[in-house]
Amino acid sequence: MGYVICIDGPAASGKSTVSRAVARKLGILYVDSGALYRIMTWQALLHGIDCKDELAVSRFCETVAVDFSVSAERIAYSVGGVEPGDQIRTPEINANVSPVSAVPAVRARITGWLRELPKLGNLIVEGRDIGSAVYPDSPFRIYLDCDPDERSRRRLAEDLQKGFCQTQEQVKASLLNRDRIDSSRKTAPLKKADGAIVIDTTALSIDQVVDAIIDVTREK
Ligand code: DC
Repeated sequence: MGYVICIDGPAASGKSTVSRAVARKLGILYVDSGALYRIMTWQALLHGIDCKDELAVSRFCETVAVDFSVSAERIAYSVGGVEPGDQIRTPEINANVSPVSAVPAVRARITGWLRELPKLGNLIVEGRDIGSAVYPDSPFRIYLDCDPDERSRRRLAEDLQKGFCQTQEQVKASLLNRDRIDSSRKTAPLKKADGAIVIDTTALSIDQVVDAIIDVTREK
């Protein structure tokens, strides 16, 4: 089994960008756990499931099968042979993913998948409950924080590049709404894991955060 570097934090705190860069520098595999919650939401919407209906989502999630493969420096996902790409990053998925990820059966299924992945190699896994609930025994648990205005500026720039037109106020409202649902849900809420190292990324460059994560990992 490989080791796991756990990266948690609120939406758009820089987790994916820095986790990808750390994976490249250390020659380990990047795992985007949020993409699995997005895939569940995408599939539920495709099958006409009401994402606010907990029972329907609980039953449906047992039918979703995801294939995992090692691709360059990451674990890639496909459903029925299709890699979802930006279809799982639309404003519609953003609006539905937090209620879907609050469903205990969804969390149990995705946590089960994530716990199998260290068989494929050393990992850096980013999400909301990675250090607190998925791999609580990992010595490498980091929580990235960031001011909400800076987070919405970063996310707006990414969304515009993907062709999703929104104002910064809409992006900020969507991020804060997701943070509220993610941190107040009963099962595995977004929180700093006991003993996790907190890095505030607001005033840091990507390289500075990457170096801070690698330093913390080496110290441990
Ligand atoms: O990281 P992201 O924005 O792509 O995550 C999408 C949603 O998935 C997020 O609003 C909450 C949920 N999520 C979660 O509950 N637990 C994780 N480990 C990762 C994501």
